[in-house]
Amino acid sequence: MKEIKSIGVLTSGGDAPGMNAAVRAVTRAAIYTGMKVFAIYRGYEGLINGEIKEFTTESVSSTIQRGGTILKTARSEEFMTEDGRKKAYENIVKFGIDALIVIGGNGSLAGAQQFALEFDIPCIGLPGTIDNDLFGTDSTIGYDTALNTIVECVDKIRDTATSHNRIFFIEVMGRDAGFLAMNSAIASGAEAAIIPEDRTDIDQLEQFISRGVRKSKNSSIVLVSESKKDGGGAMHYAERVRKEYPQYDVRVTILGHLQRGGTPSAFDRILASRMGVAAILALTEGQRNIMVGISNDQIVYVPFSRAIKFDKPINQNLVTVLGILSI
Ligand code: F6P
Repeated sequence: MKEIKSIGVLTSGGDAPGMNAAVRAVTRAAIYTGMKVFAIYRGYEGLINGEIKEFTTESVSSTIQRGGTILKTARSEEFMTEDGRKKAYENIVKFGIDALIVIGGNGSLAGAQQFALEFDIPCIGLPGTIDNDLFGTDSTIGYDTALNTIVECVDKIRDTATSHNRIFFIEVMGRDAGFLAMNSAIASGAEAAIIPEDRTDIDQLEQFISRGVRKSKNSSIVLVSESKKDGGGAMHYAERVRKEYPQYDVRVTILGHLQRGGTPSAFDRILASRMGVAAILALTEGQRNIMVGISNDQIVYVPFSRAIKFDKPINQNLVTVLGILSI
């Protein structure tokens, strides 16, 4: 097996708080191990266009506390083409990069998997997404910070909701995963969460209404996952209540991209630091084409095929807890 003397690192897809802590950890652990580090800007776009610069330990100084990604990011359509990946590989060869570390979500790791299949380049993925939707890891980098941001916002909305006796549908991100909606509902004491994983025949809105917009409660907060599956989205449910239950005063808040910003939580910084170091260790141990994950506080290596293809389930205990506590 070829010795890894230099690595490339990039962030791809939606930015997530803690990505900088991950870049910092990868950079420093690689240099500590004797490797050269090439920072690749704007994700796969930058790899295709040669936006590549050598990093030193100082390049990542004072970045652990910063939100967003210092490497910038992109959702590269060109990398989805064979031609794009060929151009990317030409730059890998040109810069003498022996292995690639990709920090991103589902789509980004799927890109890494494809790239490693087609070309002779070991790839290691770090789960960087606020959605927490990668299989094989208890948490993704950025999820905890986004969750805390949402809870802070919901607390504020509750003040106005209770003042006016209103039902608020608050839409949160997560793409097609309900982790942010479900856990922020529990943490903010919301009355319900409408999530895409709950695809039973039972209408989640009916269920919420029939359980009670309880008499003694004069306002309600419902966290809605942005997923458009089954109609989805906060607007959709608000419209339905206006039509079907006109006695309720309804408002909608879509939290949007503020959920992705802000200084990373201590949890995300530590997670990213551990995962970044583990990515370099994995390479020195001869691991290839895996995502670094965390399970029961232990670092694990998850083959790309499992991390990407399997649907990560929502813990049913959370559904039960929310149901019990929102009476
Ligand atoms: O995957 C992260 C995420 O924030 C999703 O929750 C959301 O659906 C999507 O990215 C939004 O993407 P964009 O920033 O490209 O609008």
